[in-house]
Amino acid sequence: MDVAKVRADFPILSRMINGHPLVYLDSGATSQRPNQVIDAEADFYRHHNANAHRGLYQLGEEATELFEGARAKLASFVGAPTPETIVFTRGTTESMNLIAHGWARKFLREGDEVLITEMEHHSNIVPWQLATAATGATLRYIPLTDDGMLDLSDLGSLLTDRTKLFSVTGMSNALGTITPLRQLVDAAHDVGALVAVDGAQLVPHHRVDVNQLDCDFLAISGHKMLGPTASGGLYAKAEHLEAMDPMFGGGEMIREVYHDHSTWNEVPYKFEAGTMQIGQQVGLGAAIDYLQALGMDEVRAHEEEITRYALDRLIGSGATVFGPKDVADRGGAVSFWYRDVHPHDLATILNEHGVAIRAGHHCAQLVMRRYGVPATARASFYVYNTTEEVDVLIDALAAAQDIFV
Ligand SMILES: Cc1ncc(COP(=O)(O)O)c(C=O)c1O
Repeated sequence: MDVAKVRADFPILSRMINGHPLVYLDSGATSQRPNQVIDAEADFYRHHNANAHRGLYQLGEEATELFEGARAKLASFVGAPTPETIVFTRGTTESMNLIAHGWARKFLREGDEVLITEMEHHSNIVPWQLATAATGATLRYIPLTDDGMLDLSDLGSLLTDRTKLFSVTGMSNALGTITPLRQLVDAAHDVGALVAVDGAQLVPHHRVDVNQLDCDFLAISGHKMLGPTASGGLYAKAEHLEAMDPMFGGGEMIREVYHDHSTWNEVPYKFEAGTMQIGQQVGLGAAIDYLQALGMDEVRAHEEEITRYALDRLIGSGATVFGPKDVADRGGAVSFWYRDVHPHDLATILNEHGVAIRAGHHCAQLVMRRYGVPATARASFYVYNTTEEVDVLIDALAAAQDIFV
């Protein structure tokens, strides 16, 4: 991959921060956007803006066509059999809540179990706490090993015929860990459980094919894969979408409205209430075109190279890295603790050097508790990052050490 050429597409990367070139190492939180995405969204507003699925006039038709075109691109990007198996949402949090409302609250009963893992982002914990509390079902957790992997040694007693849903991340935002999805999907299906995958970190960085994975649901965040904020979706097998209840009411999600009840539009529109984030999803379509032109295998190979380099340099500089050390088991979100410097202090000093990292619990407080830390510093990489930027990070860490240690 020609990283210099990629970088030239991202105008924000030429910014100076505190007198230094920006080194953006927080793509795990949200990625930057290339001109192609910014232009696609602006072009929508400049030339095609109208509400989708409503106006019987030229602009309305164009807006609908672009919006539905983006759905087809997202479907093909994750290997979904038809565009209708993609519900547009604002991202992974909304997608998980849609499953928890539309499926779990309808089908869970007392005595049923939902299984998740201690590695999950709060967006894949809290919806299940709410849904199990509302239905009398029980929430159970797969624990973690010391080196940041799922501890599957007791899987047989956690995943049983009481388990109705297993929801698991494809890649941890706090540890970088890539989970063995195919093995987990098979194990869950063997006991009759459905499987939801949190794809927030996996889909932007890895080739994903829902057909091959055979998962029942996949949550996708557009803003972490070069797309606009509030873009993304939920893939679900068609039979689940048919069976699920809508979460929001109003707008084009109805077929008929009577005084005492309403009937629903067809899938996926029955889940898309109100005016949707049309410009953003059109921008996501352009982001998918961009990633596909790079090639997802190239995207992954580039990240493996940077992550390997970052792990070596961080460990060599005295940082404690959380999560797997072998790049085959992990993505490019690298959590660490640097000597005795609190992550918040570290992030503040790094910012003075133009380096943007995340510091905090990363919406994964169970992970922080498991490893006995209040927070970690996290550098996360994407298509535009370079090994030279890792060097800038390491030099800035040394400066922080001089101040704090
Ligand atoms: C693993 C994981 N799940 C869920 C989310 C939430 O995604 P969104 O911001 O699209 O709602 C994130 C975002 O940080 C994440 O990293």
